[in-house]
Amino acid sequence: MSGPLTFDGRVVLVTGAGGGLGREYALAFGHRGAAVIVNDLGGDIKGGGRSSAAADRVVEEIRASGGKAVANYDSVEDGEKLIQAALEAFGRIDIVVNNAGILRDRSFARTSDVDWDLIHRVHLRGSFLVTRAAWNHMKSQKFGRIIMTASAAGIYGNFGQANYSAAKLGLLGLSNTLAIEGQKYNIHCNTVAPTAGSRLTETVMPPDLVASLKAEYVSPLVLWLCHEACQENGGLFEVGAGWIGKLRWERSLGRTVRQKNESMTPEAVRDAWAEICDFTDATKPSSIQESVQTLVEVLSKVETGGGIGANPTAATNPSAAVGQTLPEMSFSYTHMSCILYALGVGMSTRDADHLHFLYEGHPEFCVLPTFGVIAAQSAISGLSGVPGLDIDFTRLLHGEQYLELFKPLPTSGTLTSRAKVADVLDKGSGMVVLLDVHTYSGGELLCFNQFSLFVVGAGGFGGKRTSQKAVVTAALPDRPADAVIVEETSRDQAALYRLSGDWNPLHIDPGFAALGGFKSPILHGLCSFGVAARHVLQRYAGNDASRFKSIKVRFVKPVYPGQSLQTEMWQEVNRIHIQCKVKETGGVVLSGAYVDLHTHTPVSAGPPQTDGLQSDLVFAEIDRRVKGQGQELVQKVNAILAWDIMKDGRHARHWTLDLKTGRGSLTRGSAPQADVTFTVSDDDFMDVAKGKLNPQKAFFSGRLKVKGDVLLSQKLEAVLKDDAKL
Ligand code: NAI
Repeated sequence: MSGPLTFDGRVVLVTGAGGGLGREYALAFGHRGAAVIVNDLGGDIKGGGRSSAAADRVVEEIRASGGKAVANYDSVEDGEKLIQAALEAFGRIDIVVNNAGILRDRSFARTSDVDWDLIHRVHLRGSFLVTRAAWNHMKSQKFGRIIMTASAAGIYGNFGQANYSAAKLGLLGLSNTLAIEGQKYNIHCNTVAPTAGSRLTETVMPPDLVASLKAEYVSPLVLWLCHEACQENGGLFEVGAGWIGKLRWERSLGRTVRQKNESMTPEAVRDAWAEICDFTDATKPSSIQESVQTLVEVLSKVETGGGIGANPTAATNPSAAVGQTLPEMSFSYTHMSCILYALGVGMSTRDADHLHFLYEGHPEFCVLPTFGVIAAQSAISGLSGVPGLDIDFTRLLHGEQYLELFKPLPTSGTLTSRAKVADVLDKGSGMVVLLDVHTYSGGELLCFNQFSLFVVGAGGFGGKRTSQKAVVTAALPDRPADAVIVEETSRDQAALYRLSGDWNPLHIDPGFAALGGFKSPILHGLCSFGVAARHVLQRYAGNDASRFKSIKVRFVKPVYPGQSLQTEMWQEVNRIHIQCKVKETGGVVLSGAYVDLHTHTPVSAGPPQTDGLQSDLVFAEIDRRVKGQGQELVQKVNAILAWDIMKDGRHARHWTLDLKTGRGSLTRGSAPQADVTFTVSDDDFMDVAKGKLNPQKAFFSGRLKVKGDVLLSQKLEAVLKDDAKL
């Protein structure tokens, strides 16, 4: 949606620009306003000979079409001279495209020293020397864009190209480090592995392929990577035929094959080989820190007695449980369960505005939103049948809980829940199982729960420590709480709460509690969770259950029935951060917690729109997607987008798509905190959504107005694909 990419005022050096890909890059940069140094030695493909003709021809082409260019005929092995040419001609250097290259293909056994050295001198050392000469200029001007040219032969290997493959992948290593060293100076370095018809490839490709794989299908990537608007750094891209793909490293979960005070043996490696090479649930480390972190963890694990065979659960391979679905569960209830739950989390007829949660004859009788966990909680017992997990339920602690409602819960009915092991994490001292549960009523999604369960002593199986699938807790704002509610729990709070379905004797049987090391039975964590959510509803939503969107908590310490819960709250727009303490001891019970509220009635909860806006259909589809893939979209977009839909010249509808908080949400209504707001007529919105109206044209012709971060619209376009190009 933003304008064309131009390079006015930028000075670009393209090495090996007398022909092939380099020529194409040079022409494209020249065409878009850059001053270009067209470097080419003018030799043959094996590195022999010299001529100025190739570079001169390209310079003439650029100048003929009104661009600025000068030629340079030095070899990249004289890196300083190339940069000097740029400084003399144009006074600066902003962009270096290391492209010059030759081939000396031989089967490995016949590769001579000269074949090896020449290839390394031109590709690897040449790129090093040219880039080093430019580096300090880029550093002092706090801008630089560098391209390294690798090759599929380097990434994958190719018969007869040992010298070339080694040099080409060496360039990737160089680029990886320059990306790190350059980052703070706004110097970005990326690597391309192109495929195009050229004199280098005409010896290996059929002529029609050489003709159709045009260099112009590669250059747009190079130009984008070199633009100041592009924040990509340290990337590796395969590009050709108009297609571009990004590459990254993948690493198997691996296996520790060593034990404390014992030597490591090749036999242990042999026996663990299948696991070492198993890419199920592989990680994608992207920094040396991530890589080293694993080793540090292994050292501490082995030191504390982990390692081969030291942990009985290791043999069961908990990671194999990831993705396993549990048998579908059904949960039937009447208004009685709703009332019992409300009493269980401390609602009382003492408070007049609690009555609509406690009396089925009340005209606004409804169920507390946190009842959503009750419908889903029996999924936990289903974990016993999951292959690979082998959980000792006496060692299971409820670590964290996330609940999100998509519709207000009915006050009676039969709900079905589908549960899946979203991930299994190895925390060293224990294992965390992330259990995702979706609950439906008549096929319609009502709520989503993520149970985060900690199994003490089951860690050390070599699994990963973190998961992108986890809904994470949030840090508290750095100021005193905006509001505090203190409430005494009753002596029988746990005895009452357990009737909602958590029958664990730990909450009622003193003997059992003593076995667990507690002085008396403890309150259910989910009871404190319900109390805290209730406090937020009371303080910030007038006890209106339909304002509740989601809640996330981490359970820290137990509460004894009869103690007082103190909920401290901080409002940040629609998010209410909470911390819950035991008032008598000051001990934190729930941490990193928050409740997200809807400002307005959720889309799906409201009545169908009847005032004839076509765009409502598209927003209904967006709503559906957010419910299905909200977490993924939040990761991709991380922004709040708003629409002001116009009809007959008047404001007809406001929409806010929050892809920044929790698992995302679409609400009807405006949002002052939106990162970008689009104002567009209902008709034009539909034309854009159907692909009939180009958003850029709509923008430039004034039919689409954009307030805020315009670039965000590009993300949205990518995410929502054809349904909403706005
Ligand atoms: P090309 O042979 O058409 O262009 C390379 C240019 O580099 C030539 O004009 C040559 O005179 C120049 N050159 C060679 N040694 C030089 C030196 N020491 N100093 C200055 N200039 C020198 O080849 P093409 O295909 O355009 O290749 C461009 C780059 O892309 C090369 O690095 C190549 O290895 C790489 N590449 C190309 C692929 C393809 O499919 N065309 C595949 C993978 C990588």
